[in-house]
Amino acid sequence: MRNVYLITAFVAVALVSVLGLRGTKFTSPPLEVFPEWAFPGMKNQPKLRPQADSKFFADGRADRAPVEHTVMRGMLREDEHLNTGKTASGAWARGFPSELKVDLAFVKRGQQRYEIYCQPCHGATGFGDGITVRYGMGAVANANYHNDRLRQMTDGEIFSAITNGSPSKNMQPYADKLQPVERWEVIAYVRALQRAQLGTAADVTDAAAKQTLGLK
Ligand code: HEC
Repeated sequence: MRNVYLITAFVAVALVSVLGLRGTKFTSPPLEVFPEWAFPGMKNQPKLRPQADSKFFADGRADRAPVEHTVMRGMLREDEHLNTGKTASGAWARGFPSELKVDLAFVKRGQQRYEIYCQPCHGATGFGDGITVRYGMGAVANANYHNDRLRQMTDGEIFSAITNGSPSKNMQPYADKLQPVERWEVIAYVRALQRAQLGTAADVTDAAAKQTLGLK
């Protein structure tokens, strides 16, 4: 008698695992107890899968190209400085695009994205000593921001490094992860990291702090 319960339970589990997952784990349609033709509903709807072919369109592709001469909303990228890091004459831009307000909130957004996307290699302070170095991704010597070459590098070149990867391609592009404005936010934070290593006594303006440090 005990076996009957066990077998029932086993059959139930087996049925659910075979039939219940149809349609989620499999691409073929699930077995239907109440078939669509007898009980019309909206269970089956025509659709096209990504990258599939389609006899409906003349070119045989299910994916449709955007209509010619159209731009997706929010994707019109006319501003050279903001979107390419270059000035109208094609030179690398110095400074930030005029429409961006570079304030503390801007730099903080940059810090947040830097910590996600750049810190693993470039390190929290920008010395190129991120966690990846400890895992043997060694050749990050050029990833140190604190040398004259990278200090004097134009903002446009940093923009390009994020957008297209480094010139030698040792660093991959981050254009798919950071929108143009976010790239400028990250640049602001990189500049803050560089500036932080160049502090002098003259940077201390707070009277109480001056006294603690014994400055005049
Ligand atoms: C997977 C590791 C890695 C990550 C993540 C990474 N970088 Fe780099 N980065 C490198 C390496 C390695 C170099 C040196 C590349 C070379 O010598 O070509 C480099 C070089 C650079 C340079 C100098 C490029 C030049 O012209 O010499 C800049 C600027 C830079 N990175 C910025 C960034 C910023 C900003 C981020 C985050 C959005 C970032 N990197 C994320 C590894 C990384």
